[in-house]
Amino acid sequence: MASDDSFSYSLLAPGPVNIHPDVRQALSLPMIHHRTPEFDKILKKVLQGMKTVFQTAQDVYMLTSTGSGGMEALLVNLMSPGEKVLAIVSGKFGERWAEMAKVFGAEVITYNVPWGEAAEISEVQNLLRQHPDTKLVLCQACETSTAVAHPIREIAEVIHKLPNTLFLVDAITALGAYPLPMDEWHIDGIVAGSQKAFMLPTGMSFVSLSAKAWQHVENAKCPRFYFDLRKEKKANSAGETFYSSNVAVIRGLAVVLDMIEQRGLNALFHDIQRRAEFTRKWGQKLGLKLYAKSPSDSVTALMMPTTIDGQKVRLHLEEKYNITIMGGQDQAKGKIIRIGHMGYIRDAEMVHLLESLGKTLQHFDPHFISDADLIKLVADAKADLEKHS
Ligand SMILES: Cc1ncc(COP(=O)(O)O)c(C=O)c1O
Repeated sequence: MASDDSFSYSLLAPGPVNIHPDVRQALSLPMIHHRTPEFDKILKKVLQGMKTVFQTAQDVYMLTSTGSGGMEALLVNLMSPGEKVLAIVSGKFGERWAEMAKVFGAEVITYNVPWGEAAEISEVQNLLRQHPDTKLVLCQACETSTAVAHPIREIAEVIHKLPNTLFLVDAITALGAYPLPMDEWHIDGIVAGSQKAFMLPTGMSFVSLSAKAWQHVENAKCPRFYFDLRKEKKANSAGETFYSSNVAVIRGLAVVLDMIEQRGLNALFHDIQRRAEFTRKWGQKLGLKLYAKSPSDSVTALMMPTTIDGQKVRLHLEEKYNITIMGGQDQAKGKIIRIGHMGYIRDAEMVHLLESLGKTLQHFDPHFISDADLIKLVADAKADLEKHS
């Protein structure tokens, strides 16, 4: 594995993320055709390896589209116009999925969860009792705009008992970041994205369906062409992708899956959890509150003091310290900053971010923290991180 301890730029957004040097190398190899024995071998290995990350015995399909394409693929392969869809909407991405279902003709029942909060199981149960004919329930595992992790296991348990209702999970900012065992938890459809815990460039989505979900694919009446998973299923079983394969990203994925295989999936989860715990602990010690009541390990949202605009903090970090994090969206714009924990992140980058964030807050409000307190805080944080390495 190539070592690369220096960094001049840190991409610490909740996706896209820093890419490992070995993966960058794989991405830059000379192009090969996707209908060749050389690529067939890679594809076979990758399709097998993806099952490990999805923790499923089902096949995983790789689509050359961003995550939103994968969200669409799940809908159009399972839904018919006029059917009821219960959309759990707790932020921007929940809104997007609900809107998509409407575009495809669903009767959408919305469970609006206040931003920063997680869905309540009892409310999901109530809504399903009121609408027993619900075909699909949609939920983000992590709603990236609020950094909230939803109780996926518990929601899945409720839906698993209903013979004609399927649970679809947008795990774009969750799969590969923390445990989400698809088969064990009885999730019917999952979508993941290449630019998140898979540590790759943006542009691929990965989806899988449960056996229960596959029973609905033939009867779903939504129009579908590019995202017709039946085509992909047939092609994959013949050792190919239906359309031209995204050779570069799939070769990068092969390297990522090798790394995961060598260290184990739990080691990947552990790395991400450690970064999340560091950010939550030291962000709060710096004087910032957590925005999410049920925080995800993949991304942390820190609330800005009322005197400081989060958008300015974000820009200052980029311009002065070469660190990209994200601000808030819509109702959280200016009020929060969001820090991602997925991808190739070295400890020194996390310490650099903490120090730079402290200095940035000082820049906008000189009374926020003293120089001496910031120096001590950063030294303590660094020692803490080393202790837990
Ligand atoms: C939870 C969630 N869902 C959906 C998306 C949309 O993915 P994409 O931008 O790859 O289409 C994102 C992107 O960040 C996301 O975080």
